[in-house]
Amino acid sequence: MISELILKCRSFRRFYQEIAIPESDLLEMVNNARLSASGRNMQSMKYIIVHTKQMCNELFPLLSWAGYIPNQGGTPKDGERPSAYLVMLNDNNLSSNYFWDHGIAAQNILLTAVEKGWGGVIIGAVNREKLRELWKIPAHLDVLQVIALGKPKETVVIEPMTSDGSVKYWRDENGIHHVPKRTLEDIIVHLPNADK
Ligand SMILES: Cc1cc2nc3c(=O)[nH]c(=O)nc-3n(C[C@H](O)[C@H](O)[C@H](O)COP(=O)(O)O)c2cc1C
Repeated sequence: MISELILKCRSFRRFYQEIAIPESDLLEMVNNARLSASGRNMQSMKYIIVHTKQMCNELFPLLSWAGYIPNQGGTPKDGERPSAYLVMLNDNNLSSNYFWDHGIAAQNILLTAVEKGWGGVIIGAVNREKLRELWKIPAHLDVLQVIALGKPKETVVIEPMTSDGSVKYWRDENGIHHVPKRTLEDIIVHLPNADK
């Protein structure tokens, strides 16, 4: 069950833009982020919930999409853009050391989204300065990353990594998005004498 959900929980970048995510679902995602593990339990993550058309339109140009496929429509076109976003912030008044909290929280958000029939992608390439200026984000809040969300309008499949070791995802002629992953064996480190 959890393995199926993780497999389904891919990075989606094209959406049915006209389908809105109910605010209650966005709140449930943030609530599940709230329940995440947190280094020293400082819980310094904060969130801006973005779902109005105006805020979505303002945020979109400040994000960079699918860097490996700039010529294959990696950036969603108008009509296929996310219908909501969660901007993840760190509240430095609570703690300036947030360890890996934002990664764990992001995965809880995306798993919650997928379970409810939504999908999304973590966007780390954010024009933070412009965003701060535009929305007057207070100085004590650092913009860490953005989770783009919506009703996925694309198929994303996992592929075994080819022998050249390329990590680059690609799109085929049918628009299917392929993501190479290392094998299980590739990522397990066998220490000499470990079984003795
Ligand atoms: C920390 C982090 C930052 C990311 N930043 C971006 C980004 O700025 N733009 C983007 O299109 N995808 C971004 N991604 C999505 C990755 O490209 C994606 O996870 C990877 O291609 C593997 O695909 P999968 O999530 O479907 O397994 C980011 C993912 C992570 C974990």
